[in-house]
Amino acid sequence: MAKTIFITGTSTGLGKLTAIHFANKGWNVAATMRSPEKEKELTKFSNVKLFKLDVTQAETATTAVNDAITTFGNVDVVVNNAGIGMYGALELTNDADIEKQFAVNVKGVINVIRAVLPHFRAKRAGQIINISSLMGVSTALPLGSLYNMSKFALEGLTEGLTFELKPLNIGLHLVEPGGFGSSFGENVTFSKSETIKDYDLITGKVSAVLTAATSAEPNSNAQPIVDEIYKLATGKSTAFRTVVGKDAKMVVLLRKMLPIKTFLNLLGKKFLS
Ligand SMILES: NC(=O)c1ccc[n+]([C@@H]2O[C@H](COP(=O)([O-])OP(=O)(O)OC[C@H]3O[C@@H](n4cnc5c(N)ncnc54)[C@H](OP(=O)(O)O)[C@@H]3O)[C@@H](O)[C@H]2O)c1
Repeated sequence: MAKTIFITGTSTGLGKLTAIHFANKGWNVAATMRSPEKEKELTKFSNVKLFKLDVTQAETATTAVNDAITTFGNVDVVVNNAGIGMYGALELTNDADIEKQFAVNVKGVINVIRAVLPHFRAKRAGQIINISSLMGVSTALPLGSLYNMSKFALEGLTEGLTFELKPLNIGLHLVEPGGFGSSFGENVTFSKSETIKDYDLITGKVSAVLTAATSAEPNSNAQPIVDEIYKLATGKSTAFRTVVGKDAKMVVLLRKMLPIKTFLNLLGKKFLS
């Protein structure tokens, strides 16, 4: 019997690529998104079914998970992929954006995990793959403190859950990609100020990096991430953490090797002078 994967945020980027990859490999795919009525590509696959899910609304997570189980008879793997980035100097950020960063990247994952756990517990099986980031391991780009916070929180959530889920035979994994081409950059909210000038230099430099990321080739560097997700889903890898991408591997290595002050000074040189 074909296995079933449940993925959040499949309207674009990594989520969509992952859905297509698993569909081509013969899996049943529960492709979830906020606006399934707009989807044109995933509807071409007979083994992909679309489910409406806004991860910030716990009730939609419960409905989507239950509908996927009813449709396919089972869910084997959940990929918590949906994510957004709030950038800019913290002082310039408003409360709504701070809350939204946490609501999508952290509480959104919690909502989906809580929705699927009754099913995974009942069968004493299931894999949860959380898409973190290089920014979940280390700061790599200034003015990303909120995004950093959300991905560090996701890492803590995932580590913390291992104690209660391992005895139930439910696996947890973190995938930590570096930069790849997707809609992430164009969806970033970047807080700026007309009146406060103290952050202008660093804001200009970080904006330029984010703009370059936005104009990167769509899906560039994304396939190796999908391949790692596939290895985790099929049990070819049982890694708890998987760092993907040259940039991520380099930063993670430097972060481990160097004292934190040296690391931050090195990173800061590029952006503060
Ligand atoms: N791109 C990178 O360089 C990079 C690097 C490391 C990690 N990541 C992580 O990779 C994951 C995928 O990002 P991506 O790069 O593929 O970006 P993306 O193309 O912007 O995809 C993000 C997806 O999340 C969905 N989403 C946003 N808010 C949602 C909500 N409230 N409920 C449900 N879905 C929601 C978006 O759907 P809508 O179309 O409805 O907005 C979209 O499908 C994210 O967790 C991101 O943090 C990205």
